[in-house]
Amino acid sequence: MHVRRKLVAGNWKMNGSRAALAELGPIAAAARAAAGVDVAVCPPFTLISLAVARAGGIAIGAQDCHAAASGPHTGNVSAGMLVEAGAKLVIVGHSERRADQCESDAVVRGKAVTALAAGLQTILCVGEVEEERVAGTHCEKVLYQLEHSLPELGGEAELVVAYEPVWAIGTGRTATPDDAIEMHGVIREHLLARFGDTGGRIRILYGGSVNASNAAALFACDNVDGALVGGASLTAEAFVPIVEAAAKS
Ligand code: PGA
Repeated sequence: MHVRRKLVAGNWKMNGSRAALAELGPIAAAARAAAGVDVAVCPPFTLISLAVARAGGIAIGAQDCHAAASGPHTGNVSAGMLVEAGAKLVIVGHSERRADQCESDAVVRGKAVTALAAGLQTILCVGEVEEERVAGTHCEKVLYQLEHSLPELGGEAELVVAYEPVWAIGTGRTATPDDAIEMHGVIREHLLARFGDTGGRIRILYGGSVNASNAAALFACDNVDGALVGGASLTAEAFVPIVEAAAKS
């Protein structure tokens, strides 16, 4: 039985400004008080180095990277550039990128391979859309995504899986604890079958409308090792109670 520290990661998406970096102070203070919890914030690329300078002990990350080290990829950012900017982690395969940028599982896998090789903790997102949940094919969908987007492991950097049902992202609808227990259990089984004992150490985050009111119930679920938080990570007022809930779980 592996003891996994909780990880609470904020995903600011295309939100935030220099002024918003003031939120990091109280978030860092809460993180220092929350023994046993890892806390991270992923602002837009342009704020990463500024955020690193004000991080106060929390990890700063990015929301994407390219699979290549450098080259003719206008508008993209490489994993090495993120490391140079002071990022410690990166999110890959977020459903908004899978949809907006048509990222396939193979593309996501390439990004994860590169990010891990660059030494970035890599949060790889999977999740079904509403029609799949209604049709009862949600587990099948997520298993397919895992099979095709998870990289092989072996390096030093940590892989984290985030289960984010697309219908729960930014909608105010959250998976019930039973939904989370079912899917996180399915993901854990896949990780154990694929990576052996290492699969028991990989953290599985839940994401999708996590907030101060539902965090504790989600963190109490088997195999929910933390949260990837969008809207509620934009202010310390909303984010700190989630960090505190993780510390109490
Ligand atoms: P949300 O976003 O918390 O605003 O639903 C979560 C995510 O997309 O990572």
